[in-house]
Amino acid sequence: MLRAAYIRFKQLLPRSVRNALSRVNQGLFARRTIERKYGTWFDVDWRKKFRTMPDADWIAAYDAVWQHHHNNCTDETDAAMIITALGGAPHHDSTEQDAKKNAHVQNAHVQSVLEVGCGAGSLAIAMAQAGFRVTCVDVSSEALRKAAHRAQTLAVQGEQTIKHDITWKQGFAEALPFPDKSFDAITCCHTLEHVRDLQTTVQELKRVARMRIVVVVPRQEYRLYAENYHTQFFSTPDQLSSAFGLPRSETRELNYVGRDNEFQDEALLYIGYVE
Ligand SMILES: C[S@@+](CC[C@H](N)C(=O)[O-])C[C@H]1O[C@@H](n2cnc3c(N)ncnc32)[C@H](O)[C@@H]1O
Repeated sequence: MLRAAYIRFKQLLPRSVRNALSRVNQGLFARRTIERKYGTWFDVDWRKKFRTMPDADWIAAYDAVWQHHHNNCTDETDAAMIITALGGAPHHDSTEQDAKKNAHVQNAHVQSVLEVGCGAGSLAIAMAQAGFRVTCVDVSSEALRKAAHRAQTLAVQGEQTIKHDITWKQGFAEALPFPDKSFDAITCCHTLEHVRDLQTTVQELKRVARMRIVVVVPRQEYRLYAENYHTQFFSTPDQLSSAFGLPRSETRELNYVGRDNEFQDEALLYIGYVE
């Protein structure tokens, strides 16, 4: 309640005033406030060290996040928007071979999706429920365990078991464990801002995609101290589209201030069309 009211109040201020207030907070209070709020499991100095952090420490840090944290950034409204960005739910009468054959055709139907950084799995589950074949990658086995458990629980409805087509795999976005052009589409929602190496990740997303890449990131300025492990910051739509450099793409500005969810801020939606 208090957090939502504070976020709403901040939105009334001009961006320049918000940025100035944030700089004061960063310099004087942020580090200590976050340390007090989270205790020892949260690494308040993440942005000072992430570039040289060994993979095992990265995995352990995100496992700790998922032991303490249970929320998704992507809710049902976002999932519906992302499914629309994928071109809509798949037609069940076409096969994977059809999709591969028609990948070059504009508006060809997406059937298979790789969800990169699936977290607790709400987008993956929504996409599977809509009929996509979904593969999920996340660096944290704790996140994957939670997501698989949720998918299993949601699949059992009364006497009936609804079969979802979801495969779970542990891995880094910077080194996706799949051959080139393995999936019709890639979704990467509230994850690109977490990766260690933006350029390598973008290359990997483009490498494994046949048709589309759909990305959601928070729209924000760099902050040294924050209650998250963000490493990449996107303050304008152009930053996102130039990171991908695809000849055909669209970027939309989203505003989630005041909604009742983990993520309540401004965001950017990017849809890139792979040739
Ligand atoms: C904020 S969560 C987003 C989860 C989900 N996509 C959502 O929207 O709710 C970011 C996820 O990225 C994962 N992650 C962090 N660094 C990663 C990396 N380099 N490669 C793959 N996943 C990563 C984390 O474990 C976490 O589950």
